[in-house]
Amino acid sequence: MRLTAIPESIIERIALWANLVPVPLLDTQIAFTGARAIMAATELGVFEALAAGERSAAEVAAECRTDPRATGQLLDCLVGLGYARWRGGRYAMAKAQRKWLLRKSPSSMVDKLAFQALEWDLVGKLEEFVRTGKPLDFHSSMSPEQWRIYQDAMRDVGANPAVELAGRMPVPPGASRLLDIGGSHGLYSIELCRRHPTLTSTILELPGAVDRASAIAAREGMGERVSYQVGNALTDDLGEAVFDVVMINNVVHHFTPEQNAELARRIARALKPGGVYAVGDFLRSASPGAGGGVPAVMDLYFALTSSSGTWSRDEIEGWQRGAGLAPLKPIQFQSMPGWASLPAARPD
Ligand SMILES: C[S@@+](CC[C@H](N)C(=O)[O-])C[C@H]1O[C@@H](n2cnc3c(N)ncnc32)[C@H](O)[C@@H]1O
Repeated sequence: MRLTAIPESIIERIALWANLVPVPLLDTQIAFTGARAIMAATELGVFEALAAGERSAAEVAAECRTDPRATGQLLDCLVGLGYARWRGGRYAMAKAQRKWLLRKSPSSMVDKLAFQALEWDLVGKLEEFVRTGKPLDFHSSMSPEQWRIYQDAMRDVGANPAVELAGRMPVPPGASRLLDIGGSHGLYSIELCRRHPTLTSTILELPGAVDRASAIAAREGMGERVSYQVGNALTDDLGEAVFDVVMINNVVHHFTPEQNAELARRIARALKPGGVYAVGDFLRSASPGAGGGVPAVMDLYFALTSSSGTWSRDEIEGWQRGAGLAPLKPIQFQSMPGWASLPAARPD
């Protein structure tokens, strides 16, 4: 899946076809200003104000305590982007966005959009990264407040894929112990435990994450079966033949190939015979572009922010095979374009 310029009239269609349209301006100024407008409207409570019913710009401004004229211009921009509708001087929220941009929705992305204000600044350092090759390694430099925003954001991103994964993960019969590496908010563990009543999960997380992450998980009321262990997956002893399932979602993109290969070996040792090690992440294609726009952009983003990047199916399965595990059928996701979970089993 990728973003692209969509013509809105026959003249624009012809101009686009004839390469008369300066597409890079659409891909940059229109994309980044539009993106920031959606983030600003979320942050300022504009969508929440529109959720209750049609409003004039002045009414939205009064509810959000913002400037009426600037609020009107923001609303007009949202109409142009398809995030709001306008009729007879009154604005309404686009129906499809209610699922994503209202705080009370189970699929809310409101906290993720708040985190994107931090990501905005990180991405501003891209030129410097490409010049020097030096990544930002944001895990080692976040303040406690930024850790909180980060964990809330990960909850938003994980909510729907967690339900999808829980329904399709190959869990060995009678499985009792799950290790969720970098499991953050715990939703992947929680949904899997809900599906498999004999399962309990340990979430291994960095110290900075645990306070907020465990508070998010507590809201789900699964505290008796999902617990936290503060540690570091790269250095901690994971034990021998203890777990039926080890899962790592959106974490291997932070590690180097050597770290991932070594981690797979320690995980294979920690699995019971017949146990499963599943790696969930955006998959980079073997050749540039073949995997679509989302993994390509995410590869660069993770390289900038965390020193590593996305990995291909061959690379991930290579680490699993190197650890003596046998790759199983990959699980593709509808709720996250370009994302997949690659399970592999330890032979009995
Ligand atoms: C992008 S988040 C993914 C969270 C969750 N698994 C999900 O998919 O929504 C990455 C998480 O991995 C954790 N993490 C990063 N390096 C780690 C390490 N060496 N050991 C344990 N956790 C780690 C971070 O603290 C963070 O919560």
